Amino acid sequence: MEQEWKKTLQQGLEDEMNSAVQYTQLAGQYGDIAVKKAFLGYAMEELRHAQKILSMFEEQAEEPDKVNIALAEQEDLFLSLVEYLAKEEAAIFYYKVLQELEMRTETKEICRLIKEEEEEHLQKIGALYQRLKSGELHGDE
Ligand SMILES: [Fe+2]
Ligand SMILES: [Fe+2]
Repeated sequence: MEQEWKKTLQQGLEDEMNSAVQYTQLAGQYGDIAVKKAFLGYAMEELRHAQKILSMFEEQAEEPDKVNIALAEQEDLFLSLVEYLAKEEAAIFYYKVLQELEMRTETKEICRLIKEEEEEHLQKIGALYQRLKSGELHGDE
């Protein structure tokens, strides 16, 4: 596997695993049950994305390097959400690029499906933000 290619997958793996942790942290810190479930739902999807990236390493008979997991400072729910919306946008771009890199048709299809889920995250977390802001959903426990 080319070094550049491996670096790209490593970056994706790290981003997905960290996103999963950050959404889990949000669920621990904020929201009533409905909101916590929504955050945990995103965390689980990001973990599934991480597993798919691991499968891409496997296809290439490559092992990933160590992944750094960082706990996020989440002192303000809304600031954190704005930051994660930006990360969802970055994820959409990442899978768009990954999909266009030369690789097997099945892998391309997996990238396309993950990209669709990231688009859904962007849209749903944007909507969640609005509903929390308006007080329709509860951000404080
Ligand atoms: Fe993801
Ligand atoms: Fe996402």
